[in-house]
Amino acid sequence: MGHHEPVSDWKTDFDHTDDAWAADPYPIWDDLRRSCPVAHTGRYGGAWLPTRYDDVAAIAYDTERFTSRSVVVSEFRPPMALAPAGIAPPISSDPPFHNDARRMLLPIFSPHAVARLEPATRAYCDELIEALRGRDVVDAAEEYAQHIPVRVIANMLGLPESDADVFRGFVNHVLEGVALPMEQRAAGMLELFGYLQGHIEDHIASPRDDLITFLLESELDGEKLTPFHVARTIGLLLIAGIDTTWSAIGASIWHLAATPADRERLVSEPELLPVAMEELLRAYAPVTMARLVRDDMDWNGCPMKAEEWALLSFPSANRDPDAFERADEVILDRAVNRHVAFGLGIHRCAGSHLARMELRVALEAWLAAFPRFALEDPAAVRWSGGQVRGPRTLPVRIDDQESPEGSRLARPGAG
Ligand code: HEM
Repeated sequence: MGHHEPVSDWKTDFDHTDDAWAADPYPIWDDLRRSCPVAHTGRYGGAWLPTRYDDVAAIAYDTERFTSRSVVVSEFRPPMALAPAGIAPPISSDPPFHNDARRMLLPIFSPHAVARLEPATRAYCDELIEALRGRDVVDAAEEYAQHIPVRVIANMLGLPESDADVFRGFVNHVLEGVALPMEQRAAGMLELFGYLQGHIEDHIASPRDDLITFLLESELDGEKLTPFHVARTIGLLLIAGIDTTWSAIGASIWHLAATPADRERLVSEPELLPVAMEELLRAYAPVTMARLVRDDMDWNGCPMKAEEWALLSFPSANRDPDAFERADEVILDRAVNRHVAFGLGIHRCAGSHLARMELRVALEAWLAAFPRFALEDPAAVRWSGGQVRGPRTLPVRIDDQESPEGSRLARPGAG
């Protein structure tokens, strides 16, 4: 990251692409929550950063004064002409259009539809694991977590799995390339749409049983979706479905690798996983989305200007001690856990059932195969910054030995 000047003052000049934020944002948010709960920066044409749960929630619910015309902070503001759908419907659509664009997608992501994808997801996780067996050190982000959501979404959409690197390149560009010069950013977007356009034309010529054909045959207000609308929704699904889930799987494995007591507990009490997973989603929520301020206004004492950004830090809201007891601790069996990792309000994640299934299956398969693992070198772990945060380099040492005496993890200082 770090295309910008390093941050010197998080209250008045924050930058969510700063290396310090990527490495460990929690102390930054804790400090802001106490001393300056809505921070501001002049970067990106102006942006606000609420860090308290109540403020994040208030903005997420306020679709009158904050628009979703763009949800990824950059110097670029998408043209008004794309309204009401916006650049990536439904995430970029405001009411009332948003409701129809979202409703269309819901059957694809229903619990029933997602359950049908579980066996293939499990088989794929097992296949990835087989390829890692016998190795002492593996990269759990690069060689495991990142592949799972790419494969799932490519199969759903009807895009070739062999293009996985292409998808990841696009996603990386959209989410992590926010500080690139405008021309470079626009060129990357054009490339994405060019790629999708080719596949859409192919699906128009020969329809099949997949999501691209489903979207091409869907109607809004009695009219078929235009190929341009379909391309923008597919772009959203690629971006919303890949880095997010990859980050959640990776952050969960990172936590278990760094916290032997929690790893051991999950291995001996696998029935705890669904509850533990929610806690890991709370503590390491990967996704921060943004809004644009519609008109100049005073928002709780903040002089917000039209076209400035408001970053919805769901991850910081999840660490607010006014909303969660012992907010900065991971309590695997936390009983009350109304976390907002999937957002709040009308744009709440449409793919949450799918994300949860992928996360659960990925962790089940990993823990069953590798009950003993630890960080190989904590300093070598690299986290993505920006609006989707998760480990991108995650070397873990796997101890597959039968006998505890032979275990490298059992020796003091080895983990
Ligand atoms: C752990 C993984 C995931 C997390 C943490 C996550 C988080 C979020 C969040 C916070 C939002 C709200 C955005 C906003 O308020 O502007 C959102 C929206 C959305 N997500 Fe996810 N997401 C995940 C996985 C997925 C997956 C796998 C898919 C589907 C492939 C998906 C599809 C969507 C869509 C379509 C929206 C837009 C909904 C709307 O605007 O009505 N997400 N997600």
